[in-house]
Amino acid sequence: MKRQKSRINILVVCLGNICRSPLAEGILKSLAKKLDFELFVDSAGTINTHFGESPDIRSINVAKKYGIDISNLKARKIKNEDFDLFDFIFVMDNHNFNDVITLMGNKIKKSKVKFLTEDLFPNEKVNIADPYYGNEESFEECFELVKRSCEKIIENLHN
Ligand code: 4NP
Repeated sequence: MKRQKSRINILVVCLGNICRSPLAEGILKSLAKKLDFELFVDSAGTINTHFGESPDIRSINVAKKYGIDISNLKARKIKNEDFDLFDFIFVMDNHNFNDVITLMGNKIKKSKVKFLTEDLFPNEKVNIADPYYGNEESFEECFELVKRSCEKIIENLHN
């Protein structure tokens, strides 16, 4: 994948890349499109368990309910070149944060790793709970917090 210098490159990361980060990817792309804002957005997991899989059907459904189609996304694991390609790496929780920092090794740009909620709740390190073992309501709550976080990120980047 070639780096696009003229635009901002964002990677969103969760554990499996099937529940939370595909939602964030879909929401960020949708918001950017509405604003005609040139963003490149991708998502990845810190584990490879769901490689090549579509998002969890509960994420697909909650996104669809709010007009966003994430059904064509495919899960993958974060890889070394992501640390160079992306300007920001947004994680969902403490575990993702620690895993990404560990995977980065001695790469110096650790400051590009941020919590997805950081713009919405500065300095608070608010986790986006993993809805995987939850129910439909967990996915609704997850969608809501991811959406509010993404709106704030776009607002801050766009201004
Ligand atoms: P995600 O949720 O990190 O938001 O994609 C999960 C997906 C799969 C698993 C855990 C969390 N899993 O254990 O397979």
